[in-house]
Amino acid sequence: MNLRIALAGKGGTGKTTIAALLCRSLQARKIKPILAVDADPNSCLADKLGLNVERTVGAIREELRANPNAKPAAISKNEWIERQINESLVEAQGLDLLAMGRQEGPDCYCFINNLLREYLGKIGRQYQAVVIDNEAGLEHLSRRTDGRVDIMLVICQPTLSGAKTAVRIMELVRTLQLDIGGCHLVMNQCEGRLSADLAAQFERTGLENLAMIPADPAIADYDVSGRSVNDLPANSPAVAAVDDLVAKLLERSTV
Ligand SMILES: Nc1ncnc2c1ncn2[C@@H]1O[C@H](COP(=O)(O)OP(=O)(O)OP(=O)(O)O)[C@@H](O)[C@H]1O
Ligand SMILES: [Mg+2]
Repeated sequence: MNLRIALAGKGGTGKTTIAALLCRSLQARKIKPILAVDADPNSCLADKLGLNVERTVGAIREELRANPNAKPAAISKNEWIERQINESLVEAQGLDLLAMGRQEGPDCYCFINNLLREYLGKIGRQYQAVVIDNEAGLEHLSRRTDGRVDIMLVICQPTLSGAKTAVRIMELVRTLQLDIGGCHLVMNQCEGRLSADLAAQFERTGLENLAMIPADPAIADYDVSGRSVNDLPANSPAVAAVDDLVAKLLERSTV
């Protein structure tokens, strides 16, 4: 299996929380190795996974800028950075974490975005599952940071503005003809059924709603104290709902 899952959605909808819970569920199902990619420059996936990132892709790029002689003359810049990325992966129980980080220098993000995409194209195949937590908004879609994706989860809150954003995301996915196997909605902090009006707004995305993740006070508490989602009890409603979501994704997966 080589399942690449990316999360998209507007700010604060729960992308990082759900990405971390997806990793937890995949690990519990003994799917390994897993690559978790924190593609948000304001990264915090590591905290939610209880890991420490010492060196991001952005930091590696800056090191090379500050000290171009760090790279042996015989290898290309990209090759050197790739080696450094390999060394900087944070490893834990069958899961490797790669954090993109920020880029402080004068180049635009294109450089590290391109690097990330190339790198994922190369090493992504070595993993049974890749989970990519993206920054908020639509930028990463237009930059095609994720490369080929089997499943894109559009994380929404059950509100009218949530539905409008989901519609915009799907318009962009279609306009850009992104290489995505399948897109699904995931409703976060959502209890019970959507009202008929709201359901009709979400239907405009043309997507199936694959999961309703309940609001879970423990998640908010853990966030405040910086604890990992891996410490949440197994009977936490959000943990169980994301585990059901993973079961559905695996059932449908053909990769
Ligand atoms: N199911 C849930 N129950 C309770 N709180 C939640 C739930 N999902 C997310 N939260 C809380 O909502 C806030 C935003 O979550 P998170 O950081 O995962 O969103 P995000 O989409 O990654 O945000 P950003 O766009 O800033 O990256 C956090 O405080 C998190 O603890
Ligand atoms: Mg986030």
